[in-house]
Amino acid sequence: MRILGIETSCDETAAAVVSRTPDGEPVIESNIIFSQVEEHAAFGGVVPEIAARAHLSVLDKVVQMALDEADCTLDEIDGIAATAGPGLIGGLMVGLMTAKALSAAGGKPFIGINHLEGHALTARLTDGLQFPYLLLLVSGGHSQILCVKGLGDYERWSTTIDDAAGELFDKTAKLLGLPFPGGPNVERAARNGDPKRFPLSLPLRGQDTLNMSFSGLKTAVRQTAERLAPLENQDVNDICAALQETVGRIFEERCRQAIEKFNDVSQAKDGGSLVVAGGVASNSHIRQVLADLCEDAGWQLVAPPAILCTDNAAMIAWAALERLERGESSPLDLAPRSRWPLDEESATVIGAGRRGAKV
Ligand code: KG4
Ligand code: ZN
Repeated sequence: MRILGIETSCDETAAAVVSRTPDGEPVIESNIIFSQVEEHAAFGGVVPEIAARAHLSVLDKVVQMALDEADCTLDEIDGIAATAGPGLIGGLMVGLMTAKALSAAGGKPFIGINHLEGHALTARLTDGLQFPYLLLLVSGGHSQILCVKGLGDYERWSTTIDDAAGELFDKTAKLLGLPFPGGPNVERAARNGDPKRFPLSLPLRGQDTLNMSFSGLKTAVRQTAERLAPLENQDVNDICAALQETVGRIFEERCRQAIEKFNDVSQAKDGGSLVVAGGVASNSHIRQVLADLCEDAGWQLVAPPAILCTDNAAMIAWAALERLERGESSPLDLAPRSRWPLDEESATVIGAGRRGAKV
């Protein structure tokens, strides 16, 4: 089976062709990502209207590039997938309409995919990971720990109660005058910083919860920056290092608790697998913290390559492949969803399940 996937939920216009060989091996035949970073940079965040127009103007070309690189034609594609949510409605509509049109014209099944499911299943594409596993999903709109029990069977064990971790990186960067997008620039600055100079306290400390909170850190960073203004380069580096280290400690603590819970629930004797996914998962300090935690716990850390952690269409094509193999597809009147939690049963928490403009 060979799937064309399209991703347009935020500020990346992406298309990919993914297949499974007859002996079951997943193959990424192409993975084209056209970033809109330059178009949003002047605004310090993603502007929904600009994003939708930019998707519209390049998507056809990006799809053609994905087919060319995979050296195949639409005739050789078995299904067409697009992200149906959560995300910015304008962008989602562009991707969905394109996928639906290609599906109708070519008589191929169409399937709308949850962007978060794409992130959640990436480790099965890259590492052939078996269910169940724990997933730390940390992106610009989400910070969650999920128990991934099977395809479509997700239990949310932890979420942010306010901002997402990626949002914290982006807002900190903006406040410190670092260019958009924030995450990679904060990481770069942190490399030359001293994480001990500005100790930041851990949010929700001592509370009986697996949830996370990041908005207090944003305030602490702002107050520190205001106190020091005007900021020298070293101040910026030190604040970034402190922030990155504190976020790492939050993930470490919450994942440790989740691992204990997983071990209790599953009564597993040999360790399980922790997957880290989403844009923030491309941060090397955070990967290292999680690798050390897993080593301690006798668990395996599965961290897909950074290019498959940030938004891409290979993950959408893969999720579609798994669902189509199970005989599923979507109707051509499927509507985009700005909000679409992976675990529909879980209680709504402000800040969780939201993915949208980062301005
Ligand atoms: O998954 P993603 O590409 O898009 C969303 O689904 O939101 O994640 C983007 C987020 C942004 O907030 C970005 O600043 C953050 O991931 N990010 C990082 C790094 N690279 C991207 N955060 C920290 N360190 C990084 N190296
Ligand atoms: Zn994402």
